Amino acid sequence: MNNTFATDILKGLSEYPKALSSKYFYDAKGDLIFQEIMNMPSYYLTNCEYDIFQQQKDDILNSIHTQGQKFQLIELGAGDGYKTKVLLQHFVDKQADFEYIPVDISSHVLSQLSKDLRKNFDSLEVSPMQGDYFHMLEQLGVDGNTKKVIMFLGSNIGNFSFEKATDFLKQIAHQLNKDDYFFIGIDLKKDPEVILNAYNDPEGITARFNLNLLRRINNDLGADFDLLGFKHYPVYDPQTGECRSYLLSLKEQTVSIADLETAFKFEKYESIHTEISRKYSLKEIELLADAAGFKVVKNFTDERGYFVDSLWKLK
Ligand code: AVI
Repeated sequence: MNNTFATDILKGLSEYPKALSSKYFYDAKGDLIFQEIMNMPSYYLTNCEYDIFQQQKDDILNSIHTQGQKFQLIELGAGDGYKTKVLLQHFVDKQADFEYIPVDISSHVLSQLSKDLRKNFDSLEVSPMQGDYFHMLEQLGVDGNTKKVIMFLGSNIGNFSFEKATDFLKQIAHQLNKDDYFFIGIDLKKDPEVILNAYNDPEGITARFNLNLLRRINNDLGADFDLLGFKHYPVYDPQTGECRSYLLSLKEQTVSIADLETAFKFEKYESIHTEISRKYSLKEIELLADAAGFKVVKNFTDERGYFVDSLWKLK
């Protein structure tokens, strides 16, 4: 067995209860399905963050661009830049002195984004960095003189448990100086029906996204998962704010994975836990910031109070 994907799948399916990491949703097919999700009306997160940027871009710029000082705008997990371009356009129009540094694990994503930005923003200084977030931040930390504004948007933090989120944010705090900012997009607790609809759309796009993990194991590890033998099942707990997605085995079945030289038994209705999408209250966001060594400077929320972009500084 040659890779961590194989090792993680072996470990996750050998555990009881079974669990697989949502980070494995994102192969080329998974990336495309996630694009579809972001275009679904019921997946309100993308539009909320887009509206926050549209309506509060000036306030956002004034909050981070103190004394006209040059800054590096570093985006972790830049993706296609759909929402970020609203800010970039405004910052360029206002002649803010900044360099945009999109960081992504995918070189394909970065080259598409750079091409797009070069075409549409000719005066923008863009310096893409491909690789693991923390390696990239360490590299930027070396040239520590320029003020940094690190962005982590789209409620990606929700895909970590509270403990893992705190560890991740502590590592970010470690790379920042006292004048730097951290700007994080987080989905807020709200009517559970609205949340469940976002993760259980009637078109079955999110179901395809979740089941894509089994298709990927079939493809990459020579498994024989019957995709019709599993069902996407999300649940939302309003107390913890966790929307948890499962794949449920619809029958008693055995699945072989050739590359792992093993087979796994599933009982009828046995679950595989695949994703956490945690929602926070504003109070919990303060606790999260505090636990990781930050303080909340300002919250930018949409009109319905569904989503927040929260600006943090070191404590
Ligand atoms: C990437 N992440 C923030 C999405 C979320 O909302 O947790 C992934 C997703 N899963 C199902 N729908 C969208």
